[in-house]
Amino acid sequence: MSDTIIAQPKSESGAPPLPSDSVIVVLGASGDLAKKKTYPALFGLFRYGLMPQGIKIVGYARTKMDDAEYKKRISSYIKVPDDEVKAKLETFLGICTYVAGAYDTDEGFQKLDSHLAEIEAGKAESHRLFYLALPPTVFTTVAQHLKKNCYPANGSARVIIEKPFGHDLDSSRELQSALQPIWSEDEIFRIDHYLGKEMVKNILILRFGNEFFNASWNKNHISSVQITFKEKFGTEGRGGYFDEFGIIRDVMQNHLLQVLTMIAMERPVSFSAEDIRDEKVRVLRAMPIIDPKNVVIGQYDKSLDGTKPSYTDDPTVPKGSRCPTFAAIVLYIKNDRWDGVPFILKAGKALDSAKVEVRVQYKDVTSGIFKDIPRNELVLRIQPDESVYIKMNTKLPGLTMKTSVTELDLTYNRRFSDLHIPEAYEALILDAINGDHSNFVRDDELDASWKIFTPLLQYLDESKDIVPAKYPYGSRGPAFLDDFLASYGYTRDLAGSYQWPTTKAGKTNGKI
Ligand code: BG6
Repeated sequence: MSDTIIAQPKSESGAPPLPSDSVIVVLGASGDLAKKKTYPALFGLFRYGLMPQGIKIVGYARTKMDDAEYKKRISSYIKVPDDEVKAKLETFLGICTYVAGAYDTDEGFQKLDSHLAEIEAGKAESHRLFYLALPPTVFTTVAQHLKKNCYPANGSARVIIEKPFGHDLDSSRELQSALQPIWSEDEIFRIDHYLGKEMVKNILILRFGNEFFNASWNKNHISSVQITFKEKFGTEGRGGYFDEFGIIRDVMQNHLLQVLTMIAMERPVSFSAEDIRDEKVRVLRAMPIIDPKNVVIGQYDKSLDGTKPSYTDDPTVPKGSRCPTFAAIVLYIKNDRWDGVPFILKAGKALDSAKVEVRVQYKDVTSGIFKDIPRNELVLRIQPDESVYIKMNTKLPGLTMKTSVTELDLTYNRRFSDLHIPEAYEALILDAINGDHSNFVRDDELDASWKIFTPLLQYLDESKDIVPAKYPYGSRGPAFLDDFLASYGYTRDLAGSYQWPTTKAGKTNGKI
């Protein structure tokens, strides 16, 4: 296996890896994110020996709980398949402690600081990584209290923060200006967990490490790019929270735009964090604000059989809510490479399947010898079941000159069956431990992404007469979706005749 690209020059401004005996502090340790994502990821890194030697983990939250309750809670989402992992989990829990305290008073943070000082007693320096698994309402105040009360006098600190980073350009800038005087850009790691996903991290390698992709990656060969996010479940249980954001703020302005940026950016000079992020910002700046005529929105209704609720059936959702749970948005990039190519972002809750993928559709081949030969498509399946496949035409074997659509298929669980694919949060926390900012969102990147989306969001918020189209829970989305996509040149003429994946025996499901 070649390790060519692993030679990542560290950015000059980047932080060094956390040394031995550092402490990771999880703020919001009693919450859902901590339980479901942060602690399982911390354990994943610990289990594979990827944490600095002597690391300690401290939880902090308002909830009063004893040691047993804390440990029960943080291990509730950790999978324990055998005795070996069970033993590792015991050792892991042995390095975890908890402090209860408020988010808005010095007192709690002073208690946290004394607890950290006890852990670090006898060490010449203290190095602390604060992970803010917190709602945005307490974000700034916690960041301020940490700086005031828990910032090491001798050593270093870094802080990981999670979206939402505001709800539009102004509120994002407000958040930035509240954080920036106290935490430097080098100390801040803004997580977009899509940047930690294995296939998203593969995009630059696929593009720039393969000349055949690299050479055709432009408006001369590519007709459209679709980035699709589908979830099968609705917002049941968190409708009230979701209603403040809607699908565009929830996954499109951040996760899907990040994927788009990786697909569209120019080749970075190196794999260093700043070189990559410079190119990402450049492509974002070449994207005009979204024109509402290139947007459709939807909201899920009851399922056709009436067993699944509509979005507004949720009692926590305001009556008559116009919040979109589905959107398709077309963006353009005004540069030499992409001018005129539609980048279609599609995202929805309560749809017919659960998947995230990028579909690059190539242009028609020159006609003449072929009548109606389907287009090539490159599909990057981000989840579930990571894979890369190319839909291509071939001669149907036998005494015929008929063509058939088949595929070049790299399905990870067949090709790399013995390799562990890390969870996105494992990959990103390890990057933060190593001081590598490449897969985190820089301040100017955040600003550029809000600039593209804010006018559309304001228009949707203010235009009371724009109501999302209803679609049944469990369907493909609003009925006009196919016509909308077709109007941007996307052809779906193979629907029903081609199916991926193929069966295990390598045979197609008889569908070709
Ligand atoms: C979160 C959104 O950021 O991403 C959720 O708030 C969404 O609504 C989730 O379900 C999707 O993440 P993943 O990793 O499951 O695709």
